[in-house]
Amino acid sequence: MLDKLTKNNRMRIRKIRKIERETPTIKTFYFKDDLCAKAEPGQFVMLWIPGIDEIPLSLSGTYLKNEVSVTVAKVGEATSHLHQMKVNDFIGIRGPFGNSFKISKSKVLLVGGGTGIAPLAFLAQKLVKTSQKIKFLMGAKTKSELLFLERIKKILGENEKIVATTEDGSFGLKGTVSNPLEHLLKNEDFDIIYTCGPEQMIKHVLLTAQKYGIEVQASLERIMRCAIGICGNCVIGKYRVCKDGPVFSKSQLEEMLDELAIFKRNFDGTKEKI
Ligand SMILES: Cc1cc2nc3c(=O)[nH]c(=O)nc-3n(C[C@H](O)[C@H](O)[C@H](O)COP(=O)(O)OP(=O)(O)OC[C@H]3O[C@@H](n4cnc5c(N)ncnc54)[C@H](O)[C@@H]3O)c2cc1C
Ligand code: FES
Repeated sequence: MLDKLTKNNRMRIRKIRKIERETPTIKTFYFKDDLCAKAEPGQFVMLWIPGIDEIPLSLSGTYLKNEVSVTVAKVGEATSHLHQMKVNDFIGIRGPFGNSFKISKSKVLLVGGGTGIAPLAFLAQKLVKTSQKIKFLMGAKTKSELLFLERIKKILGENEKIVATTEDGSFGLKGTVSNPLEHLLKNEDFDIIYTCGPEQMIKHVLLTAQKYGIEVQASLERIMRCAIGICGNCVIGKYRVCKDGPVFSKSQLEEMLDELAIFKRNFDGTKEKI
């Protein structure tokens, strides 16, 4: 166990092998790494942008010959620098860290928003081989920001298995994932919801799932520094997101209801209202 932690925590310098633009603000970066190639959906890496910062990113896929990817939205300093990098530039990688989504053989619903769709697309690739039934509910502000629509269509095989929403109504249903979520749970049978995305959305999914008595697994985000459970920067309730998560069960999420989508922690660890 200690060996694995030490091994995964060692920084490896890797070359960017391929970059794909997914949306006007999101790009996917591919690199080779033998440890990350064994990662499961939900696990994350710490990616070092030389001279700038090190940031947590979920793995968005593993492929042949130890190739893996991360899918990154440009939101601030580090992600803007990463977006400017080119094929053959070098990055540093630690990880993979954290737990992963537990694969279910039953009837599953995936609910993703923004870059939260990235680890869920990776998960869908695994679930499609085992689950009795699978449906993907995905949301974005506008059509051009709807991540991985084509990839998810290919994974699931049928359009009817996808429900898309956009806040401006430019694609799919107008609004957020909230309305179709309630409709789906009322009219169809699901055993578990996997979710990742904005924390307000995750909280809404949790509260709706409580109403219909459905299990939930949600991947959370917090500012991270060490990623191995030491610094305390990522604490929510009694949990460290890097070590106890980032994927939490419904009962764990219920324990953090007084912080979930209410408080975040700053870079100095202080709590701030969202
Ligand atoms: C486990 C985990 C997995 C993640 N996976 C992805 C992913 O797959 N794709 C992706 O695009 N992003 C992901 N993130 C979020 C990503 O780490 C942040 O967007 C990034 O650190 C921002 O860095 P920055 O320097 O560009 O922005 P900053 O200049 O640091 O901040 C810009 C804005 O982003 C917010 N922010 C900063 N750090 C985080 C953070 N850790 N989580 C959420 N918001 C943050 C700030 O509050 C601020 O509003 C993940 C975060 C965690 C904890
Ligand atoms: S990031 Fe340091 S304890 Fe989680």
